[in-house]
Amino acid sequence: MAQDQFHELTVSGVRPQTDRAKAIRFDLPDKLKSEFAFKPGQYLTVRANLDGEEVRRSYSICCRPGDGLEIGVKHLQGGVFSSFAQQLKAGDSIEVMAPNGRFIAETGGKHDYLLVAAGSGITPVLSIVKTVLRDEPDSTVTLIYANRNFDSVMFRDDLDALKDIHLARFSLLHVISEEGQDAEILSGRINAEKLNDMKKRGLIDPARYDAVYLCGPTPMVKGLRSALTDLGVAFDKIKFEVFTPTPYGKPGGEHAPAKPDLTGSEVEIILDGARRKLRVHPQEETVLGAAKAAGLEIPHSCAGGMCCTCRCKVMKGSATMDENWSLQPWELEAGYILACQARPETEKLVLDFDAA
Ligand code: FES
Repeated sequence: MAQDQFHELTVSGVRPQTDRAKAIRFDLPDKLKSEFAFKPGQYLTVRANLDGEEVRRSYSICCRPGDGLEIGVKHLQGGVFSSFAQQLKAGDSIEVMAPNGRFIAETGGKHDYLLVAAGSGITPVLSIVKTVLRDEPDSTVTLIYANRNFDSVMFRDDLDALKDIHLARFSLLHVISEEGQDAEILSGRINAEKLNDMKKRGLIDPARYDAVYLCGPTPMVKGLRSALTDLGVAFDKIKFEVFTPTPYGKPGGEHAPAKPDLTGSEVEIILDGARRKLRVHPQEETVLGAAKAAGLEIPHSCAGGMCCTCRCKVMKGSATMDENWSLQPWELEAGYILACQARPETEKLVLDFDAA
């Protein structure tokens, strides 16, 4: 059964972080507490009707499990939802879907962690850092946090407090690209070269880490992932989350459909036992984009290939994906696909959202 249910939650407080970012806290009624239980690193999908159009966005949870429910929201230039979210205040209500996401830390035991975040990528990482430091008293955490300048550092008070409490177990390295720092190694961009320098100077020790978490823009995550594997970190120890590209497969950009001659495809959607058909133009839209345009509700959240909420099984025909940041090799092998990234390759395509 597809999960795509929203609940109306009330905002209980707002904590300004920078002049463009806020942490927004929700009241959670007792009856929703088990549904909204989350693992550190997960996110919430929020929904609002703005100027007559339904807009959904995913924002990571920044607190620890057991400490309520709080997300970090950074205002993006021209961002419809983030502009709206910046106006939210205590007492307002908004529709929220239960926590989701595979960028998670399963805590317990003793581990050495390395986490690298850029900008608002700190939000899920902060939840992981806080949870590990609370739940794994013998573990160590090294966090590299990259920003343009110190004014754009989100959750600075939270991070400073963690440093004070866990001096021996928590190392925090701010890497700043547009302001000089006394230590030259901490100035500039976080990239493969910087990681190599940090290793040479003993600031990080890639061979030691049991788990590595990366969260930031796609080029940063791709570059650091390959740099870390070159430095000896096993690929399967690295978890990552990227800032998602333009949702709903807008035309243009780098994504060309695999079959340029295919101008249209009849796509049948099986959802909650019902069958619906829609026309998808793979040159211009993904299956999710076409479904939205046709007013057909199909499960989705991030719309960027990250969360798997739109996962469905290809029962007939074939499709390619613009991006896949979340389906595992076995899922691809079994015929699963992400509707938010899928462009048909055949004149008929049947997608089953009910397939477990
Ligand atoms: S909606 Fe998140 S992967 Fe498709």
